[in-house]
Amino acid sequence: MAQLAELALQGHTQGSTAGSLADAINSQGGRVKVPMGRAYAFVHDAGDGVRGLLYVTPPIRLAEDYSEFGSEWQETFVERTAEIQLLAVTEELQGQGVASSLLAVGEASLRQRGCRAVLVKVLADDKRVQAWYQRRGYTFLANRQYAELKVGGQSLFITSEGSTYVSGLKSLRTDIIGG
Ligand SMILES: CC(C)(COP(=O)(O)OP(=O)(O)OC[C@H]1O[C@@H](n2cnc3c(N)ncnc32)[C@H](O)[C@@H]1OP(=O)(O)O)[C@@H](O)C(=O)NCCC(=O)NCCS
Repeated sequence: MAQLAELALQGHTQGSTAGSLADAINSQGGRVKVPMGRAYAFVHDAGDGVRGLLYVTPPIRLAEDYSEFGSEWQETFVERTAEIQLLAVTEELQGQGVASSLLAVGEASLRQRGCRAVLVKVLADDKRVQAWYQRRGYTFLANRQYAELKVGGQSLFITSEGSTYVSGLKSLRTDIIGG
């Protein structure tokens, strides 16, 4: 657990430690207070400790980048959009569908809370993980490509800036067609 939490925290949660994330997960049932809202941790624990973790936060940096839209808009934005910070499964359990289940449960839970889009950043070189997300409905943005997100009457643009990471996103909106 501490190892997975450590991974989850790298560069993402300010002023916190892996221990405090683990405590927060245990005491708040997976909901962790972070700037601008709540983060959610979904864990795989078959009784022998946590072997898989999906950690999702509001897209804090993006909300800050668009601060000119105002704090009311930021609130709406972080309610409707989420960002995967970490998805990890211990090596011995990989290939058994654990991450697929964590992602499906996480997305369903986010959708239920009114979240409409999920963002993720993956290392540009990691084609295996990008393909994994693509098979689960995520689209990755190549250099110079951008995606327009319309939230709360404003448009914002998602890009894969820099060469280290590529940004991916998935819409959680379900359009019902026909009757
Ligand atoms: C990427 C990662 C999270 C995937 O976890 P995982 O639990 O192995 O993923 P899954 O088992 O759900 O899916 C892996 C493949 O196994 C297959 N699979 C599912 N159930 C299976 C089973 N019972 N037996 C064999 N294979 C199975 C799936 O079909 C999937 O292949 P597909 O994408 O072609 O459909 C994991 O490899 C990992 O932790 N990597 C290191 C950290 C990392 O890179 N994280 C992502 C950055 S955000």
